[in-house]
Amino acid sequence: MTKLNKTLSDLSKDIQKAAEYIQQGKLVAFPTETVYGLGANAFNPLAVSKIFELKERPTFDPLIVHIADINDLNKLVLNIDERIFKLADKFWPGPLTIVLPKNNNVPDIVTSGLETVGIRMPANEIALELIKAAKVPIAAPSANKFGRISPTTANHVKKQLPNVDYIIDGGKTTVGIESTIITLTEKGFKILRSGIITQEDIQTVVEFDSTSEIQTLSAPGMLKSHYSPRKKMLIVYDKNKLINIDKSKIGLISFTGEFDESEYKKIIKVSKTNDLKEYAINLFASMHSLEDDDEIEVIFAEAVSETGIGKAIMDRLKKAEFDWKKAEL
Ligand code: TXA
Ligand code: MG
Repeated sequence: MTKLNKTLSDLSKDIQKAAEYIQQGKLVAFPTETVYGLGANAFNPLAVSKIFELKERPTFDPLIVHIADINDLNKLVLNIDERIFKLADKFWPGPLTIVLPKNNNVPDIVTSGLETVGIRMPANEIALELIKAAKVPIAAPSANKFGRISPTTANHVKKQLPNVDYIIDGGKTTVGIESTIITLTEKGFKILRSGIITQEDIQTVVEFDSTSEIQTLSAPGMLKSHYSPRKKMLIVYDKNKLINIDKSKIGLISFTGEFDESEYKKIIKVSKTNDLKEYAINLFASMHSLEDDDEIEVIFAEAVSETGIGKAIMDRLKKAEFDWKKAEL
């Protein structure tokens, strides 16, 4: 039975129970608009340590803390400057994470010992209700094993983390890729991870800092390999190079639709209208489905131009193919 069409009130008992679990120091997987998160009470270091254990995530990779009310910022950060309110007004609730100087309430395990903490207010009613009912900010990474494909449905979570204490099934997520992460400098903002909120969007509110390079220390956990399927994956940059390849065991994630369906084992067309937002929404779900299909040996994914949302899509594709890459097609 799927709970896809359940309303918020249908889920209110689930949310209450999940909130109790959070208060008891247990882990709860819950939907956000981007991907499912694996949450714990951000103020409980022991609970947060269970996230790293269950995900098999290295402790140098810090977590994002989720809030439901702008006033919660005071519980977490030092010196809230004007720009944060401008950004929050425009983008929260929504898929934007802002890295800010943390105060002493935030345990070191949440931030991997950094003096900063990434914060976002998710645009998903279930997530917001859960945070409010738990009465604490919720630290949550994506609810997948470290390095593997991010989950956009409750079933994706079950597949990788069958032992999680509780999962709230809120159906398919509506954005499909993780939040944009920014940090604020004296001159403006820098992007640590791209998402559907683009540099151009953010520039309408705060200046873009194009000066110095980002210190690697300020973007920990940004590894070259990530989002990896269990089978070989390659990005298709030029479909002319595919002419002489046997495609009978290939599953293709197609954006333009300019491929011959009869040649491939399976083609998933991510958008009917050539809309990059739809590529983002369907990207991880397509990767999961091709990963689970025993008749498919290799996953191909069509490249898009690295502008606007295309930048975030190409970031995910490049990290997914990184361990598998032998030749560019
Ligand atoms: O959309 C999202 O952001 C999802 C949902 C669940 O909210 N969360 C998510 O979390 O993608 P995760 O842990 O998979 O990726 C968060 C990344 C970390 O890998 C790290 O690179 C960066 O955020 N991060 C977190 N705190 C940071 C900090 N204080 N400074 C720099 N980077 C930070
Ligand atoms: Mg992740």
